Amino acid sequence: MAHFIITIDGPSASGKSTLAKKIAQRLGINYLDSGAFYRSIAAFLVEKGVASEDETFLSSFLQSAKLKLVYEGSFARYYFNDLEVTPFLRKELVAMKASFIAKQKSVRNFVNNNLQEISNKGDFIADGRDLGSKVFPLADVKFFLTATLESRAKRRELEQKTMGIDTSFEKVLEQLRLRDEQDSKRKIDPLVRPDDAFFIDTTSYTTDEVCEEMFIEIKKKFSVQPSLFRTWICVFLKSFFSLFYGFKVMGEEFSRKFLSGLVYANHTSFYDALILLTLLGPKTVFVASERVVRKNFFIRIVTSFFPLILVDDQNMPKDFFRLCIKTIHKGCPLVIFPEGMRSLDGTILPFKVGITSIILHCKLKEVLPIYIGGVYSIWPKGKWFPSFFKKITVLVSKPLHISGHEKGEGKEARVKLTNQLRERLKNLEKHFKETYECRI
Ligand code: CDP
Repeated sequence: MAHFIITIDGPSASGKSTLAKKIAQRLGINYLDSGAFYRSIAAFLVEKGVASEDETFLSSFLQSAKLKLVYEGSFARYYFNDLEVTPFLRKELVAMKASFIAKQKSVRNFVNNNLQEISNKGDFIADGRDLGSKVFPLADVKFFLTATLESRAKRRELEQKTMGIDTSFEKVLEQLRLRDEQDSKRKIDPLVRPDDAFFIDTTSYTTDEVCEEMFIEIKKKFSVQPSLFRTWICVFLKSFFSLFYGFKVMGEEFSRKFLSGLVYANHTSFYDALILLTLLGPKTVFVASERVVRKNFFIRIVTSFFPLILVDDQNMPKDFFRLCIKTIHKGCPLVIFPEGMRSLDGTILPFKVGITSIILHCKLKEVLPIYIGGVYSIWPKGKWFPSFFKKITVLVSKPLHISGHEKGEGKEARVKLTNQLRERLKNLEKHFKETYECRI
């Protein structure tokens, strides 16, 4: 499965990096700042006191040079030939030198090769000048942002003053004008707007407004349209459960708002998957154990109409997490089901670590817990056919917010999260027993 890449091109201070970071955070992917690559070379030269910007010198110097990027959560550290250059990247002298050396072919090749190599390791949102046109011409979504020179200068002045850099509006305006000229007039890979890029003039919009617009565009590109057949199955299931059972959903507004993301539920009956389909709709994608699906005829039939991500209990399939995150970004609810075996007595069994691994690997910010009540007595394990005309009550909880991905994926973090997930479902179960079960 190929990785996906979103590019944002545009002139300096058009809002690229702020927006790229926001979107990266929202999608749970990494931000690739191509400008920082040019700045890293420039910072190294400045710090080591290398004054030469001669093409022949730089070309042979870069042949043995190494650029390394280390992510610490969403923050990236840059190393050039083992010198950490991160602290020097935002200096204006470094920016000017970066813009100057960026005209050279060997420098551009060096940066582009590094960008392409890193992009093979995951999903990224990358910003720069020529990313959609030259570096990633096949990017999944492309944006081109711009704003008037004056408003960009105002933003950059504010940014620099916040960082404690002594500057003035006139000085910043002049530096930006100069860099605009260097970036758009150079012969090799100048700043251009790719034909297939979504264009936004950010002058009179807030960052949040632009972010929303970009997000709508990204969702449009990734969203999938379910087939009419699947839509009909869901309509049929809803009618079936309403007709033969007192089917009640509490907290349905949470599932309606939670259009895509990870959903987990208790598992006591064959009906569970069908009830989740009724609730979440035709875009639902199931994550299921290959072993369980293979040996169970009923589950094979149900799941054959809906997309499945199969998991081998022993090994995670290659690209499994990428598949999960792509599914979610396509606007589909991803349902972990069946989470192990059905419970023998209707109680919630200890969770497997699979769900926690998905949350941590895919850096998911929230998950939706659902408790399906009443179905155990309708169709418990060991019974061939269900009983009818009983009550099914589904409790949809507020999405559970997950924080602390940055703290790693160690055993302790996994156990804590797994307990938290189970606890939320247990609370729903308690609420169900106290409020609804006695009336069934
Ligand atoms: O933050 P700002 O937009 O001011 O600059 P940057 O993105 O950090 O880029 C610094 C310099 O690197 C720019 O002025 C460009 O000359 C150069 N650059 C480039 O030529 N091509 C890219 N894809 C990214 C940056």
